[in-house]
Amino acid sequence: MMKTLHVQIGEGSYPIHIGAGLHGRLPELLREIGWRRERRLMLVTDDQVGPLYGEDVKRVLTDHGFQAGCLTVPAGESSKKLSLLEEMVGDCIEAGLDRSGAILALGGGVVGDLAGFLAASYMRGIPFIQLPTTLLAHDSSVGGKVGVNHPLGKNMIGAFHQPSMVVFDVETLNTLPEREVASGYAEVVKHALIRDEAFVRWLEERVDSLRRLEPDSVSEAIWKGCAVKKEVVSRDEKESGWRAILNYGHTIGHALEAAAGYGVLTHGEAVAIGMVGEAMLAEEMGLCPPVSERTAHLLSAFGLPTRLTMEITDEELLERMRRDKKAKHGRLTFVLPRDIGCVDIIHGVEEPVIRQALNRLRGGGKG
Ligand SMILES: NC(=O)c1ccc[n+]([C@@H]2O[C@H](COP(=O)([O-])OP(=O)(O)OC[C@H]3O[C@@H](n4cnc5c(N)ncnc54)[C@H](O)[C@@H]3O)[C@@H](O)[C@H]2O)c1
Ligand SMILES: [Zn+2]
Repeated sequence: MMKTLHVQIGEGSYPIHIGAGLHGRLPELLREIGWRRERRLMLVTDDQVGPLYGEDVKRVLTDHGFQAGCLTVPAGESSKKLSLLEEMVGDCIEAGLDRSGAILALGGGVVGDLAGFLAASYMRGIPFIQLPTTLLAHDSSVGGKVGVNHPLGKNMIGAFHQPSMVVFDVETLNTLPEREVASGYAEVVKHALIRDEAFVRWLEERVDSLRRLEPDSVSEAIWKGCAVKKEVVSRDEKESGWRAILNYGHTIGHALEAAAGYGVLTHGEAVAIGMVGEAMLAEEMGLCPPVSERTAHLLSAFGLPTRLTMEITDEELLERMRRDKKAKHGRLTFVLPRDIGCVDIIHGVEEPVIRQALNRLRGGGKG
């Protein structure tokens, strides 16, 4: 079974195909978007994903007459850097990749961002295809953001470059460490919580089959998550700033992720705690009916943390939130729930109420 979502961006559009065993159908899917065998391809992957799926993907392409080279980068966030990109450009030139060539990004969000930026900048831009292998990468398959980090900040160097197609073979998720699976589900739950109560209910009913990575359920969850992101991103073209709702859970989440030290909490874990904290904040501010309990219940069913148990002070978190680009004159902007499935961008949130919410997030009483 294959599910497809078409993403319309300006004049162009591209398909996101989701299903089990799709790597085997790559040649056929490439032909569908009009790519011929003459197009030289460069597969980019990392040293964990490459050994698992790189050979198979390369073989299915070469068996059908495509020419495909392969670049392997070290796994992990530290590969999103300019110096590595420069090396990769060298490798592509040496391999004879020209303007008629294309990049295939096989891996998680790191490979997607790095290889996507390689495609965006190589010879002023060549096409690329994403072959995501993490659940979290469903998030990067819509929106066209690609790029690398700078020592002074994450994703500081980048571009918008839409893929020509996304082929999400959900069978690859079976080798993903359990913690990465849970972390990916945090962003799926986020997409449901910001836009779609029915999707939240759907997730609540299928947690078990989703955690077991049953192909039909996972494919559907990814499809629904991508559909929410697509709707938000396309509406943002008209209402600039609306896209910020995708940051639900991320104001507290980013502060936590950084304060804990990168790598201690996964991104999804930090965002899960962040969503519960921001739900509590909205409750404290009287913006919504009680939503934090149901939010926490769903996230913990996916194996995610929902309480702040680390020894990080309010001051440290607030300091990091103030430094966040959304802080204006000491008052903070948050994406806060109005209800399950609906959020708003709220400016001017005062620090005392944030402290109250953080206290509850630590398991303290309703202050
Ligand atoms: N462009 C966007 O819109 C966007 C959106 C969200 C996140 N991101 C970026 O995505 C990155 C995080 O992505 P991620 O969580 O996918 O991380 P990742 O790409 O680092 O993958 C996580 C780990 O799992 C391994 N792995 C990947 N697929 C596997 C598989 N199928 N089996 C076994 N191991 C596998 C990887 O080698 C890596 O070690 C961040 O850099 C973030 O900035 C980008
Ligand atoms: Zn995120």
